Amino acid sequence: MVEHNAAIGVIGGSGFYSWLAEEAAFTDVVSRHVSTPFGTPSAPLTEGVLDGRRIVFLPRHGTRHEYLPHTVPYRANLWAMRSLGVRKILSASAVGGLQLDAGPGTVVIPDQIVDRTTGRPQTFFDRLPDGHSHGPIHVSFADPYCPDLRQALVRNGDARDGGTLVVIDGPRFSTRAESRWYAAQGWSVINMTGHPEAVLARELQMGYATACLVTDLDAGVSEGEGVTASEVFAEFSKNLPAFATLLLAAIRDIDPHAESPGAAGDHDVDAIMLDIT
Ligand code: ADE
Repeated sequence: MVEHNAAIGVIGGSGFYSWLAEEAAFTDVVSRHVSTPFGTPSAPLTEGVLDGRRIVFLPRHGTRHEYLPHTVPYRANLWAMRSLGVRKILSASAVGGLQLDAGPGTVVIPDQIVDRTTGRPQTFFDRLPDGHSHGPIHVSFADPYCPDLRQALVRNGDARDGGTLVVIDGPRFSTRAESRWYAAQGWSVINMTGHPEAVLARELQMGYATACLVTDLDAGVSEGEGVTASEVFAEFSKNLPAFATLLLAAIRDIDPHAESPGAAGDHDVDAIMLDIT
């Protein structure tokens, strides 16, 4: 059962650094410094209230974009969210488009992930003490996103319902050959941060869905020079107000106390968290 004071978390991506504190709609805004067994999160978490719902915001890359995608402390971020009572997470990301029919400005709510990252820690459960009694834990991840949270995003904006997000390590962008290969598989969008966030949320039994704003057509799809970071940031900031409106509307549409389908696992996550030091 989801607790009475369960909060909704928002993880912001590139260009989305101090969102909650800047939104007039929030009241009771406080900043929380959290430490975790997996280190310090990317930034202090900001908590506020929106129409009676407790919201916790964290900028994935830090408030000054200190963390590149492969150095983001994903485990600390997700652990900190859950320790503040978050049970559902919406995340926001800039992505490259892999198909010509979804160009810059399109919002995609993916329903699948292809993980092309290497070596990023993607579990909390390698820190359990020897002889613990929790058994081997392998969460199911066939459907990586919470269908209810996805639909809250789809219902409240002009967004594509479904698609596959390819996640690469970065920080470089893809070559044309890599990009053409991803596009030829029929995959929809590409970024550098969509993994391991979703699976870490799943391990801590938090519902998770992501809203992807297409900022560029990736190298194998575009005719031009290939994507540049300045193009990504410029396109993201142009679309930020509309994107923030989508997030607010989706949050207002979410019942924070309803169970997230797919988030429940057969492990006792509260007991496990106490055992991880
Ligand atoms: N983030 C935004 N655009 C991207 C691209 N083309 N490739 C990887 N990550 C991205």
